[in-house]
Amino acid sequence: MKVVVSLGGSVLGLDAKRIKRFAEVIENVAKDHKVFVVVGGGKVAREYIRIARELKANDTLCDYIGIEVTRLNAMLLLSALNSAPKRVPKDFAEAFELSKHYNVVVMGGTFPGHTTDATSALLAEFVNADLLLNATSVRGVYSEDPKVNPKAERFERIKVSELIDMVAKQEVRAGGSYVMDLLALKIIQRSRIKTIVFLGEPENVRRVLEGDFKEIGTLIEPE
Ligand code: UTP
Repeated sequence: MKVVVSLGGSVLGLDAKRIKRFAEVIENVAKDHKVFVVVGGGKVAREYIRIARELKANDTLCDYIGIEVTRLNAMLLLSALNSAPKRVPKDFAEAFELSKHYNVVVMGGTFPGHTTDATSALLAEFVNADLLLNATSVRGVYSEDPKVNPKAERFERIKVSELIDMVAKQEVRAGGSYVMDLLALKIIQRSRIKTIVFLGEPENVRRVLEGDFKEIGTLIEPE
């Protein structure tokens, strides 16, 4: 199977032990599958963007700054991987080329205007992935932010159109935080990409890949 895994920067963490655990799982999964990992910028990207904004950078420049941080994080993950090329592709064609020679390819962001959620959806579309896995800090998709409202309802499945309606009400800004970026959802919808949003712990990557997601994630159903 060809799978794209979107690892948010906060999910990956800035911690060698945790990054190593993700690397081990990815290498293991790559014995049976072709794996593309898209790494996010996390807290560091948000901090850089906050300071850049204070310095009057516009949103596009803030996005470029965020992208550089996602690539730095990608290089951290690469440091712990033996089977991936020590190179962060800057676009989808380059990632695809690398995947002809390697079972693991790691990249960060690409261009301004969205987050790595959309990057991973576009990559999944470009390489014709069978599955898109979006690792987050919660157990999938909720009716509201569960960190704000602990009583928010968790969905085991949700139609992509319903999720688009929920997300469309939110504002899009560099460094913003949403369950999934609107552009990502539109790509998932147009190409009917099977997508699972799940709690981003290393051991969950294989679990979700094997279809055992109900306790720890949400299936986004393409219509
Ligand atoms: P992230 O994808 O990390 O944002 O990109 P996020 O979802 O807020 O963070 P985590 O990692 O899941 O916690 C960081 C920022 O980089 C820019 C955006 O400004 C984004 O908010 N970015 C990233 C782009 O402009 N284009 C990309 O392809 C990727």
